[in-house]
Amino acid sequence: MTERLTATPSGLEKAARILREGGLVAFGTETVYGLGGDATQPQAVARIFEAKNRPRFNPLISHFASAHAAFAQVEAPPIAHKLAHAFWPGPLTLVLPRAVGSTVSELAADGLSSLAVRVPRGAAVQALLAKIGRPIAAPSANRSGRISPSDTEHVLEELSGRIDAVLDTGPCAVGLESTVLDLTLPERPMLLRHGGIPAEALETVCGPLSYPDTQSDTAPVSPGRMLSHYAPTLPVRLEATHVLPTEALLAFGPHMPHGAAVTWNLSESGNLEEAAARLFAGLRFLDKAGARLGLTSLAVQPVPAQGLGLAIRDRLHRAAAPRPE
Ligand code: TXA
Ligand code: MG
Repeated sequence: MTERLTATPSGLEKAARILREGGLVAFGTETVYGLGGDATQPQAVARIFEAKNRPRFNPLISHFASAHAAFAQVEAPPIAHKLAHAFWPGPLTLVLPRAVGSTVSELAADGLSSLAVRVPRGAAVQALLAKIGRPIAAPSANRSGRISPSDTEHVLEELSGRIDAVLDTGPCAVGLESTVLDLTLPERPMLLRHGGIPAEALETVCGPLSYPDTQSDTAPVSPGRMLSHYAPTLPVRLEATHVLPTEALLAFGPHMPHGAAVTWNLSESGNLEEAAARLFAGLRFLDKAGARLGLTSLAVQPVPAQGLGLAIRDRLHRAAAPRPE
């Protein structure tokens, strides 16, 4: 059974013990809840893939208590140090060449010669990482292809009975996954996934970014880019300016179209940070309401394509993409 732990000294101690013994503990970070396992134990990492039902061994992000600990596992050029200084702890993941002596299991990195590292923000996750003193591999704590969890209840909906414990740290502050930046290329850093740190903010530190030239799903550099990710059950209709009475509405801003069966406003004031933090909870809420009320689709109001809006739009486009099967 999945135990619910509180972020108290005894709860953290228990969580650290489970992880050291090769078990799985979900925990809140500033972005979303992660499904954590000791990255140095191949069996623990294998259990992560199994619990998530991941179709294949997508590489996982390793989480650390400090930049110092993270950079012991990778070859970090000066630009990585600069970015870490500016954004860690925080929602930025850096992909770097694996160091020769890296203790992260091959399975966590899917046998790649690179490794994704990040130092998350949040008192509880920081305390846990410091306590265990090892890298924790943690994908988002949802079953593969489903909406990422931004609260403990979501984790339990997804993974109850499949993991040992969840450390309840309340709702996540940012609510979107970390931005993934690849620093292994000879040219510009490449933004592999929009996320909690806007591209514009990164560019002020590391100059212009490059982007993968295909949005295709065929040989994804970063499997988080797979198109049919974040799938609610209801079909999703983007850029909606009106709604039908048979629709659920994911609204943004003060000017909502009226007449939807059920509505969740991401941010009535049109604030993108608030919208990011409320996105995954809103998708879950509307999806459930839609199933209960027998609705036809989920209409989504336009979200501006700037700053965190880019990451929000990315998740919404994936939610609207054609599904496999
Ligand atoms: O905010 C987050 O990043 C959350 C929290 C729990 O930290 N984690 C998360 O993990 O979103 P996950 O597994 O859902 O997404 C990890 C992303 C994927 O897109 C994966 O392909 C990419 O990071 N990634 C991991 N290692 C990589 C590598 N060596 N090269 C390129 N991309 C990599
Ligand atoms: Mg994920």
